[in-house]
Amino acid sequence: MKIERFTKLGFILAAAGSAVGLGNIWKFPYITGENGGGAFVIIYLLTVLLIGFSIMIAEILIGYMGRLDTVSSFEVLAPKNKNIWKFGGFQGLAGLFIMIFYSVVIGWIFNYIVTSITSLPSTVEEAESIFSNMLHTEFLTQLLYHTLAFFWITYVLNKGLKGGIEKMNMFLMPALMIILLGMFSYATTLGAFSQAFEFMFYPDWSKIDSGAFVVAVGHAFFTLSLGMGAIMTYSASLEKNSNILKNAFWVVLLDTSIAIIAGLMLFTFLYEYGSIPSKGPGLVFISLPAVFYEMGVLGNFFSIIFFIALAFAGLTSSVSLVEPMVQYFIDRFRWSRLKASISMGMFFWLFGIVAILSNIDGFKESLAWGGKNFFDWVDYVTAAIMLPLGGLVMAIFVGFIIPKSQVESILKPQLKWAFAPWYFSLRYLTPIAMFIVMLSLVGII
Ligand code: PHE
Repeated sequence: MKIERFTKLGFILAAAGSAVGLGNIWKFPYITGENGGGAFVIIYLLTVLLIGFSIMIAEILIGYMGRLDTVSSFEVLAPKNKNIWKFGGFQGLAGLFIMIFYSVVIGWIFNYIVTSITSLPSTVEEAESIFSNMLHTEFLTQLLYHTLAFFWITYVLNKGLKGGIEKMNMFLMPALMIILLGMFSYATTLGAFSQAFEFMFYPDWSKIDSGAFVVAVGHAFFTLSLGMGAIMTYSASLEKNSNILKNAFWVVLLDTSIAIIAGLMLFTFLYEYGSIPSKGPGLVFISLPAVFYEMGVLGNFFSIIFFIALAFAGLTSSVSLVEPMVQYFIDRFRWSRLKASISMGMFFWLFGIVAILSNIDGFKESLAWGGKNFFDWVDYVTAAIMLPLGGLVMAIFVGFIIPKSQVESILKPQLKWAFAPWYFSLRYLTPIAMFIVMLSLVGII
C-alpha cells in the first residue's frame, strides 16, 4: 500500500514536470517546422483539447480510483476480468523503453551544456559536423553523459515520491520556467518575433496532409505523457477529494503554453539570424548553437542556460518514465525502492548503450533492421504503437469497464454539463481516432 502522498502543488508540478520534456522544447518546434507551421499548430491544439485533455482526465481517474501501481489498479477496477485487464497496466513498460533513447538524448544535452561554456560553432556547417561527429564517432563521450543521466535519475527515484520526485520538481520546474520566460521576453524584443508569430499562428492549409494529423495525435500523447502509466502512477498518490479536472487542466495548460513559448522563441532566433525553421531533429542541436554564436557573448550565456533548461525538462520527465515500473516492483514483488530503482535504471542504461552504438560507425550496420537503427526503432515502436495503444486501452477501460455510476459520482460534480460530452468522446471519438492513428502509423492505411 502506498503511504506517500503528493502535496497539491507537488502533484501539479510533478505531473507538469513529466509532461514538459524534450517533447516540448526539442520535438515540438521541429515537427511544427516540418509540417508547415500555423495549420499544424492549430491541428495540434485541437487534438490536445479534444483527445489529450479527455484522456488526461481518464488516466488521472484510473490512478486516483485504483491507488496502486498501474497493473494492480487495473485489476482492482475490473474485478471480474482482472486477468485480462491487468495487461492494460503493463503500459508502464513503454516508459522504460522510451528511456532507452531519452537518457541518451539527455546525455547529448549535458554534453552541449559543457561545450557551450568553451566554444560555439561559427556556422551551421560546423555545427552539423560537431553533432554528427558526436553521434557517429564519440562513443565514450555519449556513454559518459548517458551514465550521468542514469545516476541522477536513479538517485532521485530511490529518494521516493516526496523526498525525490516532488522535491526535484519543486526546484527544477520553476527554474525551467524562469529561464524560458526570460529568454522568451528577450525574443519578443527582436524584429523577427512577428515573423515567428505569423509562422506559428497563420495557417496555410495547403501545407497540411493527413500525415500531419497523425503526427499531431502521436505528439499530443507523447508531450502530455499519456498512455504509459506515468500520470496514472502519480495520480495514485493524489490526496482523497482532489479535483481531477483542475489537475488535468493545469497540466495540459502548462505543457501547451511551454511548447508554444519554446516554439515562438526558437523560431524568432532562427529567423532573426537567418536560419530557416524546417531543420528536423537537428534544430536544437545544430541550427540553434550556430544562431547562439551569432549573438556573441549573450549567445554563450543563452546557450548554457537553454541547455540547462532542456536538461531540467528531460530529467523531470525521465523520473516519471521509470517510476511506474519501480512502483510495480515495489507493490507486487515487495522489492525495496533501492533495488527497484537500480534494476530499472540498469535496464535503460544497458539498452541505452546499444542505442548509442546503433549510431556509431562500425557498429551501426549490425544494429539496423528494415531501414531503421535500434535507436530509431525504440522511438518508433513506443510512439507509434505503445502510447496510442495505452490511450486506446484507457479510453475503453474508463468508457466501458468501470461502471458509469462510479465514474459519474466522482467526475459529474467536477465536470458538470461537460460530463456527457466528455464521456461520449472517451467512448467513441477517442477510440476511433486512436485506432486510425495506429493503423496509419504502422503503415496499414
Ligand atoms: N512528456 C514528455 C516529453 O514531452 C515525454 C514523456 C512521455 C514523459 C511519456 C513521460 C511519459 O518529453
